[in-house]
Amino acid sequence: MEYVKLNNGIEIPMLGFGVFQVEDGAECVNAVRNALDVGYRHIDTAQNYGNEKSVGQAIKESGIPREEIFVTTKLLNAVQMLGVVADGFEESLDDLGMDYVDLYLMHWPLKPKKYMDAWLEMEKIYKSGRAKAIGVCNFHEHHLAEIEKVWGVVPALNQVELHPEFSQKPLIEYCKAKGIAMQSYSPLGGSRNAARMLQNSILTEIGKKYGKTAAQVILRWNIQQGIITIPRSIKPERIKSNFEVFDFELTVEDMAAIDAINIDARVGSNPDTFEFKHWINGGEGLEEIHKIRRIVFIEEQNVSEEDEMIAWEDETSEHLLMYEADVPVATGRIVMHDGKYSIGRVAVLKEHRGKGYGRVVMNDLINRAYRLGAKEIEIHAQSYLVNFYSSFGFEICSEEYEEAGIMHFTMILKK
Ligand SMILES: NC(=O)c1ccc[n+]([C@@H]2O[C@H](COP(=O)([O-])OP(=O)(O)OC[C@H]3O[C@@H](n4cnc5c(N)ncnc54)[C@H](OP(=O)(O)O)[C@@H]3O)[C@@H](O)[C@H]2O)c1
Repeated sequence: MEYVKLNNGIEIPMLGFGVFQVEDGAECVNAVRNALDVGYRHIDTAQNYGNEKSVGQAIKESGIPREEIFVTTKLLNAVQMLGVVADGFEESLDDLGMDYVDLYLMHWPLKPKKYMDAWLEMEKIYKSGRAKAIGVCNFHEHHLAEIEKVWGVVPALNQVELHPEFSQKPLIEYCKAKGIAMQSYSPLGGSRNAARMLQNSILTEIGKKYGKTAAQVILRWNIQQGIITIPRSIKPERIKSNFEVFDFELTVEDMAAIDAINIDARVGSNPDTFEFKHWINGGEGLEEIHKIRRIVFIEEQNVSEEDEMIAWEDETSEHLLMYEADVPVATGRIVMHDGKYSIGRVAVLKEHRGKGYGRVVMNDLINRAYRLGAKEIEIHAQSYLVNFYSSFGFEICSEEYEEAGIMHFTMILKK
């Protein structure tokens, strides 16, 4: 195995095994066990993949000492949105059944600048020693530059889409100059493009010279550029052959021919235009949210039911939490009763509806309730939000009921 030394001295194996879209349970356990048997010592998962438990189980069952395996996981976007990075990290460790990870990556640079705050939280995790290195995914040059300009550091690694049709040369150069290791995801073109890309005659012809497949040629092209790569397969023969890339060397001409395949074509999303619809209602209005400048927070303890009803009705009441941009845009409230938190209906001023404020206010309220120590949060919201909040890893009890001819929906979120 060849290694790259990260900018903090930690060594990472240049070839790892990715588990995106590998089903939690037997499929993932078997794939990771297979990979470890073949010799991979670097596994790339994410909280978002929902298979950290299986990755942890496979590593444990393999009997290979934990310190011999390089484990990466990633911060869930929803957790970044909520600003509860430490909680997300704890959940990952719990699911993996580990007390540290080798690399913790921010999965996407979320707007609006959530990633700047999240990076500081990740630094705290790094300083605690429970992530041996921290880095990012899907960062463009301008995202990296902003982290460096504002926080005075550069991430250890940037994991991005990179394959012959999207060779990312300018980003490679930038990262090299800054001492940021580059890691390629979807190196074979991902599930959507691998079958087609691996038919490319330039790749297959080069492969013939060495008795290698197009996939092996691509992986070798990565490694010879100093790029760490993490192909994924659930097929034992492919898991094995993708690992057999250290016994041949591409010539300068081969490398140039593969470079020339580039057409700057992504398979996945562009971080600058990625639709965070899943995280923020409506998707639009992300820029608008930047305008939220002032948050007035009044914690009400043990409000009587009567008071609550009044505040409920009167959305301009002082009891409410006000979100102000240049003008007030939205209100929401959080009430504590006997140690239980209830988050009131979020109201968005008419002219600002449909811009995503409601979701941001709700997320902020949940975040605050957590910081105040809530274990259980009641939310009054539309039913479609159940899916949204269940993606945060909450256990959700929901109830729909009719009152005065109006259907209401209540959710209890439990951690
Ligand atoms: N940070 C991010 O945002 C991000 C995004 C995407 C991926 N990733 C990471 O990068 C890893 C790799 O990327 P990926 O999973 O998108 O795609 P990939 O590894 O480029 O391609 C996987 C696809 O190629 C097929 N395949 C694998 N080896 C093959 C071979 N030798 N011959 C023919 N087909 C082969 C697989 O099918 P079979 O399983 O049927 O073999 C699967 O459909 C992920 O698993 C994940 O860990 C990160």
